[in-house]
Formats: sequence, structure tokens, C-alpha cells
Amino acid sequence: PAATLADAQGRLIRYLRISLTDRCNFRCTYCSPAEHEAPDGLLSRAELAHLVRLFAGLGVRRIRLTGGEPTLRKDVVEIVADAAATPGIEDVAITTNGHRLDELVAPLARAGLGALNVSLDTLVPDRLHGVSGKAARLERILAGIDAAAGRFRSLKLNTVVMRGVNEDELGALVRYAWDRGALPRFIEQMPFGGGTPVPLAEVRRRLEAEGFALSPDPWRGWGPARHMRARDGDGREGLVGFIGAMTENFCEDCNRARVAADGGFQACLGGQDRVNLRDLLRAGADDAEIAASVRGALAAKAPRHHMDEAGARLVLLPMRGIGG
Ligand code: GTP
Ligand code: 5AD
Ligand code: SF4
Repeated sequence: PAATLADAQGRLIRYLRISLTDRCNFRCTYCSPAEHEAPDGLLSRAELAHLVRLFAGLGVRRIRLTGGEPTLRKDVVEIVADAAATPGIEDVAITTNGHRLDELVAPLARAGLGALNVSLDTLVPDRLHGVSGKAARLERILAGIDAAAGRFRSLKLNTVVMRGVNEDELGALVRYAWDRGALPRFIEQMPFGGGTPVPLAEVRRRLEAEGFALSPDPWRGWGPARHMRARDGDGREGLVGFIGAMTENFCEDCNRARVAADGGFQACLGGQDRVNLRDLLRAGADDAEIAASVRGALAAKAPRHHMDEAGARLVLLPMRGIGG
């Protein structure tokens, strides 16, 4: 039988998120990215390919590349191609801020990228500057999303809902995504930066107040998102995704683990226990030793994160290097 990877609760780990860099050209208020890369260096393309092969051999079927901003890596297209060509890997995905997307859509498609998630918190340029800083250019992001429309198996737009910032744009964001064949998703802010989360129950109420009729949809995808079927006042219909990390905990169905930008293997986004795979590789550890370390870290994984409890902020590693 094929090898499998499971955590302390017996949850199967089939989805690996790999952060390619902790740097970002944006400065989103909820994230706080790094100015400089991991002190002892990022994983090289060859090290990344080695890890993907190793994890595929342990039963991982899906890879998501994250950051920081993964497209700041000059070799991002080659990294996608390596992962997509790895036996056992069924899907390669990226989560990006969209800044370089327009130029990257064609090469990423050729490299075999299956799924693309783009952060889109607002459709108002001044608001984007307020959330993500002056380097964020809405017209570039929107051009990238237009270029990506229809080019991948899946296109999702991620919106972190922020009090007093984008609460009045939820319906516009839904229609914007639908018009491009994309899935709009609303995310509760986790305590990595400033601000307090807007509960998803409130997000759904706001959509209803904007004229959307919502009904539960059983589709689950590969992630923590839950979905509703929505129909707007004009009779247009589609799915909307909800990621309720704070008020609608989804840890019970966890299927993932992550490798941070510094090579740290992290079993849980809200956890701290980690073993550094970059250091193990560079010390000449063989695959069996690395697999044993990974299994050890998963054996210590908690049943759920505790980000929704008071004071949790103090124990979190920075989001920027873990990649969500
Ligand atoms: P799909 O495979 O497309 O469903 O991707 P995803 O939603 O898992 O990934 P994405 O990078 O788009 O992340 C969307 C949001 O989900 C971000 O806010 C992530 O931080 C959050 N997220 C992803 N995985 C986890 C997780 O295991 N735990 C928690 N708490 N949040 C997660
Ligand atoms: N809480 C929730 N989501 C976050 N993201 C970044 N920081 C946070 C946070 N504190 C989201 C981004 C991006 C995805 C990788 O994670 O919007 O879409
Ligand atoms: Fe799994 Fe941890 Fe994410 Fe919860 S927070 S879904 S336990 S990785």
C-alpha cells in the first residue's frame, strides 16, 4: 500500500503549503511581511524539488506555493514546473497578491499550475493603498485577474473582511469574481497583524442586506472554506466561500501541513513546534531521517489552533514566513 502521513488525531496530510519567501512588496495591515529574507537563506529550487518528491512519497497529493509573495522568487515558474512534474502530485496551486500576475499567467499555465488564489480586499484604489501600502496597484492586480480568468482549473479571490474598510463592498466583490469565472471568498482576519475579525455571520447578514439569497452548498474543495450558493437581486447565481478561522473553527477536517520560508516544518498554522527541514537537508540527512522528523512533528500537532482565544497573538509565529 502507498505511504500515508497522519497527525496525532489521525487526520491524513495530503496537502502541503510551501512558503517560497518571507518577503513581500506589499505591507498589508493584517500580515506584516519581512524586509529581508530568512537569515540562513531560502530553500533553493533543488531543495524544494527534493522536499516535494519526499512528501509526495509520503502521500501528499497537492502543493500550494505561498509567501510572503511567492512571485518575488525569480525561479517561481521553474518551481511550479518541478512540482507539477513530480509523480504523485495531482495539483499545484499558488496564492499571490497579484502584482506580477499579468506577466506570469502564460508561463505559469505552461508550467502546469492548476489553481490560483489571488488576494483582493477592495475594488477601490485608495482603500487598497490604505490596506496594502503604496506599492499595491489595483489596476495591475485587476489586469492579472483578467489575464488569469479561464486559464486555470480554479481561480479564487480572497478577501479579508475588515471593519470600516471593505464591509460595504462585499456584494461588488462577489459580482466582480463571478464575472470572471472566479470564486469569491471571505476570510476572518486571524491575529497576525492589527485589527479584529468581522465574524462571518455578519458577512452573510451584510450580503443578505445587499439583496443576496444564500443557501448552504455541500461543496468542500481541499481547504478550510465552507460554501454557500448565492443569488443576487438580478437572479445571477454562484458560489461564495467563507473561511471562518476565528468563529467557525474548521480544524477537525485539517488535511495540511506547511513548510515556512526558513525551511521550518510547521504542522499547524497556529502552532510553534517545528523542525527545520532546510537545516536537515544541508546537514546531509537522508529521506528516511527527514520523514521521521516530519512524523515526529505531526505526532505533536494539537487538535486545533487557539488563535480565537484571548492572548493567543503572543505565541504566533509571523504570518509572512508561514504563508497562511
Ligand atoms: P484552497 O485549496 O484553494 O481552498 O486554498 P486555501 O484556502 O487553503 O489557501 P489560501 O492560501 O487561499 O488561504 C486562504 C485563507 O485560509 C488564508 O487566510 C489562510 O491563512 C487560511 N488558511 C489556509 N489553511 C489554513 C489552516 O490550516 N488553518 C487556518 N487557521 N487557516 C488556514
Ligand atoms: N488573517 C487571515 N487571512 C490572512 N491573510 C494574510 N494575513 C491574514 C490574516 N491575518 C490571507 C491573505 C491571502 C492569504 C494567503 O492569507 O489575504 O489571501
Ligand atoms: Fe489544521 Fe492547525 Fe489549520 Fe487548524 S489551524 S486547520 S489544526 S493547521
